[in-house]
Amino acid sequence: MGKEAARLELAGNASDYKVMSGTVGPDVIDIRKLYGNTGAFTFDPGFTSTASCESKITYIDGDEGVLLHRGYPIDQLAEQSSFMEVAYLLLNGELPNKPTLETFTRTISRHTMLHEQLATFYRGFRRDAHPMAIMCGVVGALSAFYHDSTDINDPHQRMVASHRLIAKMPTIAAMAYKYSVGQPFIYPDNNLSYTGNFLRMTFGVPAEPYVVDPVVEDAMDKIFILHADHEQNASTSTVRLAGSSGANPFACIAAGIACLWGPAHGGANEAALNMLREIGTVDRIPEYIARAKDKNDPFRLMGFGHRVYKNYDPRAKVMQKTANEVLERLGVKDPIFDVARELEQIALNDPYFVEKKLYPNVDFYSGVILSAIGFPTTMFTVLFALARTVGWVAQWNEMISDPEQKIGRPRQLYTGATHRDYVAVEKR
Ligand code: ACO
Repeated sequence: MGKEAARLELAGNASDYKVMSGTVGPDVIDIRKLYGNTGAFTFDPGFTSTASCESKITYIDGDEGVLLHRGYPIDQLAEQSSFMEVAYLLLNGELPNKPTLETFTRTISRHTMLHEQLATFYRGFRRDAHPMAIMCGVVGALSAFYHDSTDINDPHQRMVASHRLIAKMPTIAAMAYKYSVGQPFIYPDNNLSYTGNFLRMTFGVPAEPYVVDPVVEDAMDKIFILHADHEQNASTSTVRLAGSSGANPFACIAAGIACLWGPAHGGANEAALNMLREIGTVDRIPEYIARAKDKNDPFRLMGFGHRVYKNYDPRAKVMQKTANEVLERLGVKDPIFDVARELEQIALNDPYFVEKKLYPNVDFYSGVILSAIGFPTTMFTVLFALARTVGWVAQWNEMISDPEQKIGRPRQLYTGATHRDYVAVEKR
């Protein structure tokens, strides 16, 4: 703060607006008084130039390819930390010491079970239901089961709801998978890590013991870390907007899941893998590159491009390395990995992609890894939702505790009919 004000002149009248600075990143012009001063709104569909809130959680520099959680670079967290530690960091602002991390991990594992009646809720879905449809429904339904953590004005209840959501998402996700393949639900085992427990609930069966593969567990934990938060993206903004009306946290997270489902957002890794399978072999890549460049063809290279990153997505680098490790460990020889690597090289050197600053994003390689681990493509966005729940609850808590918080209510530029009188149907 303390910067020179921004002056706006409209129809000969000048008005001044405070310029605010964060700790890093572009300044913002505080236009809250704009309408009062000028009678005009701003127009910014897609919020490309609008900061919707003040936040201390995640910082992205899209031009430089930087992603920091509470100041810590994503590659350091992915390589050296654990998903539970990152969850604590995002929620509380600081890395925990050893006893605090142990207490937090224990607290989360004590909440992994679902109310038994929720199992019957699953049986209402068709077996071929998309697991994201099940996730939206079941997470929304949590508010009907956990009444003692829906008072958003009580910080303790907010924290209990946050822990419940983080803890129950793996159970909900694994049950969605089990339901689709017709296998019995597996109860959580709290002796395992957060990620190991999720793998067992997903791939274990009651008929034989399940041994968690440490390489797969580590890769999965990295994938969760890489998806944990991403500042004010579409689904997080949805959670904040839903929460701004005072809606309970379970309903808000269900809204976030609905937004994440779209192919331009969380659905992109599913779309990226489907695209790689469709391309199939390296010799067909030029055909698809040509289609991506053709203005008359709606086809886009899935897993490429990002609203914020105009450089290599730092998460994609970790993802590529993890893909190598997992495929080697599992002995998977999948030709789509060759297609992915070759496609990346061709696109990175093609003037169309270079000029538009289109680089691989986090979704480009994650599908290859998840498929090698054994997840069907329909589960990919579910895994994203599981991990992003941490970011959603951290951002939701931050919003509720913010004294500047108001109900989110954008304005519009109206271009429809002006006043006209109703005409009876027989006279039209
Ligand atoms: N393939 C081909 N061309 C592309 C691609 C792509 N993947 N992405 C953008 N472009 C082109 C657009 O056609 C446009 O060209 P033009 O300027 O000649 O009209 C230009 O690049 C800018 O694209 P916009 O859509 O305006 O950029 P925006 O920031 O709105 O979109 C988005 C970002 C939605 C991610 C886009 O790049 C896309 O659709 N990518 C594919 C889907 C994807 O991978 N999504 C995952 C995002 S990451 C995540 O959610 C975790």
